[in-house]
Amino acid sequence: MPELKVFTRAEVAKHNTEDDCWIIIDGAVYNVSTFAQLHPGGSQILVELGGKDVTDDFYGLHRQEVLVKYAPRLKIGTIENEVAQVSIPVPGELSTVPYAEPSYWMGFKSPYFNESHTAFRKAIRAIYDEIRPDAILAEDQGTYPSKELYAKLGEAGVLASQLGPGDHLKGMKLPGGVRPEEFDYFHEMIAHQETSRLGAPGFTDGISSGYSIGLPPIFNFGSPALKARVVPEVLLGKKRICLAITEPYAGSDVARIRTTAKRTPDGKHFIINGVKKWITNGAFSDYFTVAATTEKGITVFFVERDENIETKQIKTSYSPSAGTAYITFENVKVPAENIIGKEGEGFKVIMFNFSHERVYICAAVTGASRAIVEDCFKWANQRKVFGKRLIDQPVIRNKLASMIAQLEAVENWLENITYQMCKMPYLEQSVKLAGPIGLLKYQVTRVSHNIADDACQIFGGRAITKTGMGRTVEAFQRTYKFGAILGGSEEIMADLGIRQAMKYFPQGAKL
Ligand SMILES: Cc1cc2nc3c(=O)[nH]c(=O)nc-3n(C[C@H](O)[C@H](O)[C@H](O)COP(=O)(O)OP(=O)(O)OC[C@H]3O[C@@H](n4cnc5c(N)ncnc54)[C@H](O)[C@@H]3O)c2cc1C
Ligand code: HEM
Repeated sequence: MPELKVFTRAEVAKHNTEDDCWIIIDGAVYNVSTFAQLHPGGSQILVELGGKDVTDDFYGLHRQEVLVKYAPRLKIGTIENEVAQVSIPVPGELSTVPYAEPSYWMGFKSPYFNESHTAFRKAIRAIYDEIRPDAILAEDQGTYPSKELYAKLGEAGVLASQLGPGDHLKGMKLPGGVRPEEFDYFHEMIAHQETSRLGAPGFTDGISSGYSIGLPPIFNFGSPALKARVVPEVLLGKKRICLAITEPYAGSDVARIRTTAKRTPDGKHFIINGVKKWITNGAFSDYFTVAATTEKGITVFFVERDENIETKQIKTSYSPSAGTAYITFENVKVPAENIIGKEGEGFKVIMFNFSHERVYICAAVTGASRAIVEDCFKWANQRKVFGKRLIDQPVIRNKLASMIAQLEAVENWLENITYQMCKMPYLEQSVKLAGPIGLLKYQVTRVSHNIADDACQIFGGRAITKTGMGRTVEAFQRTYKFGAILGGSEEIMADLGIRQAMKYFPQGAKL
């Protein structure tokens, strides 16, 4: 980084030629003489502005992260007696843009949150703020999250915190100094919200999806030996796991899976044959939690990668970074003790964590939606069209109102459900919350649909352009449907909610 000096505006004004071109952005001076030739927006555009203050031009065309990335190379000083007006967030800092944070972090009172939740949110955000540039690059290039990153997230307790409270946290270091015994479902909610704020949806699923659904069957139903071996190494990011249930023949209708597991004559092993489709993280996982049918019915197995397992990347709407795979199991030999739960009781094992997975998706979708609301608010404030800011147009304010009102409503519902999870034993949750969680997920993803729609109209062409100001909106409008399909589609969720309610419908209730 060049040594920083203090200049007057008059001094900067002299550097206005192709070979000697300085500009001022927000009280800082940048020497763009060499950079101009490499500038993605063209060199002439920069040279013409040499010696001038280009703050408004710059922020009309670039995201703040451009300056953060290039400043170390280009910034040569500051303007005398001027202070920066644009705040560049430091890692972990919460936003002060209205509605960019859930209400507690906008200064509202809450019965649910305390200081440990704030410390946790900030710590986890700081971790993601630091990895964001690499995540965006990986998302673009389609590379998988590295083993080093997994290990880093594992060491920091980020992976463990995405699985909720429980015995698996014992002895773990958690972000923000949160003690395992004080960790609750609100911390977990925050963990998912922060992960999805990364703004790189494929990469985000690459680091968070497989083990979040693949590991719980093991710590809920696995044998003590299996738990002792597998849980720590996955939580510390040393091994990667995924959940393989869906097949080309069986999606919503899990009972129709055709993968088979046949017991060997000596009874000590099973031989698995079949195919699985859309398995998140499957392309790079070491371990697979697999549903297959034995003579006693659906059974879940812990399977280690070997040469009889082939994983092929499936191209989906988001980045290959998620490692979404088509998996072929051909005569894969698995020890009988690798059964998770009991033979024939796999349906219970699969269903047990479903509500939890759905709440996690709700948290992730609200987190991603809120980041979009923040971008829309900022953009409406800085983009000028027909001589006015977008925010000066009533129709744009109306779109923001619609987005915010819907998001606040589902966030409050999510907090209420999360509170029930904190207070109810797991079995009571399964009975009482499965239906409401289904309806919540249905509504959260409906809201994300509306937010994607409004955000697109606010960002215009930028909302359908992969780079530049609308990068995050483009990614969101291309991928918000994942939440509406994965973990139970909207139709199934809505139906579940009403069917569950009908179970408790009072016989005598008549109009
Ligand atoms: C990117 C991606 C990642 C995934 N990751 C995993 C993973 O890691 N592990 C895994 O096991 N699976 C995974 N899946 C599979 C996912 O869970 C299924 O796609 C989902 O369960 C829906 O199944 P389906 O796509 O076969 O849709 P179908 O079951 O064919 O349904 C099609 C449509 O019909 C509707 N529908 C179905 N039944 C009814 C009904 N009774 N009433 C009304 N409407 C109905 C559904 O809502 C849906 O919109 C993933 C899928 C994708 C696309
Ligand atoms: C330190 C100074 C600058 C740096 C580091 C810089 C860097 C960049 C980068 C990285 C992009 C690509 C953005 C993306 O696709 O995400 C870009 C695009 C662009 N820049 Fe700059 N830039 C600077 C100053 C300016 C200035 C002063 C102008 C003057 C108007 C300008 C005009 C443009 C234009 C028109 C584009 C194309 C935008 C588009 O595709 O919509 N840049 N710049």
